[in-house]
Amino acid sequence: MPRKIIIDTDPGQDDAVAILLALASPDEIEVLGLTAVAGNVPLALTQKNARMICELAGRRDIRIFAGCDRPLAGQLVTAEHVHGRTGLDGPTLPEPTMPLQEAHAVAFLIETLRAAPEGEVTLCPLGPLTNIATALREAPEIAPRIREIVLMGGAYFEVGNITPAAEFNIFVDPEAAAIVFGSGIPITVMPLDVTHKALVTAPRNAAFRTLGTPVGRAVAAMTDFFERYDREKYGSEGAPLHDPCVTAYLIRPELFRGRHVNVEIETEGRFTRGMTVADWWGVSGRAPNATFMGDLDADGFFGLLTDRLGRLT
Ligand code: RIB
Ligand code: CA
Repeated sequence: MPRKIIIDTDPGQDDAVAILLALASPDEIEVLGLTAVAGNVPLALTQKNARMICELAGRRDIRIFAGCDRPLAGQLVTAEHVHGRTGLDGPTLPEPTMPLQEAHAVAFLIETLRAAPEGEVTLCPLGPLTNIATALREAPEIAPRIREIVLMGGAYFEVGNITPAAEFNIFVDPEAAAIVFGSGIPITVMPLDVTHKALVTAPRNAAFRTLGTPVGRAVAAMTDFFERYDREKYGSEGAPLHDPCVTAYLIRPELFRGRHVNVEIETEGRFTRGMTVADWWGVSGRAPNATFMGDLDADGFFGLLTDRLGRLT
């Protein structure tokens, strides 16, 4: 039986690859819908990009909902410097023609979780946690109904990418992250500690292009664009492919290794706001609340990703 998921997303080239991987894996994953959130770029663009990605995958049937256009507190911080003005720079994709759903993303999250059997639906946030936290605040009774939250966000040993201490998704909305990590829902975290080991090297990028399909070419163009910033910043041999770690985990969890630890979200720190304080060595005495990933089989990850993307013609 495929796992029923809702992907909450701020596309974002890496979000796009994560969504394509999910849509290419119907035996393991059933996508109930996509909920767009403001993050990499403003909401008007993230909801549009989500529709463009589904049309690229030939999935005009996927329901896409627009959610929150700003964090719970403070101003929206975006990342055009990484993802380009559109948030999906790199490939030339046609304007979307599939509709955006009328309902607000938060309403969709709440209604879907209320209607589904307890423990059936997994939430996969790939951006700031504003939509998820808002749903939990509006309808606290949905928390025990959620099977698991598998999210991309945070960092510990790898430290921050938007500030010295914080990873972007958490930094944009630390209050939302604190609500999610304090919810008691089973959480699996794909932090920079693991995503920075998923580097799109030139041979891996070439493997996408060699698929010879519109999806393969588009993904190669996305990761080509996306990597220029990270390669310059880290001098690494390719860009870290953050968000696809979430959907790859649902398909082959054995590719990942981590530790069940306590993770708290710093919301007050002058220099550390948005930091995920992961108690990796168990020194705090605080109860573990998340499985925090630290390592992955990178060749296995890219082998899975390339094989699955090849199924989208
Ligand atoms: O820090 C990386 C995360 O921020 C990824 O999800 C990327 O898409 C951006 O949302
Ligand atoms: Ca993202």
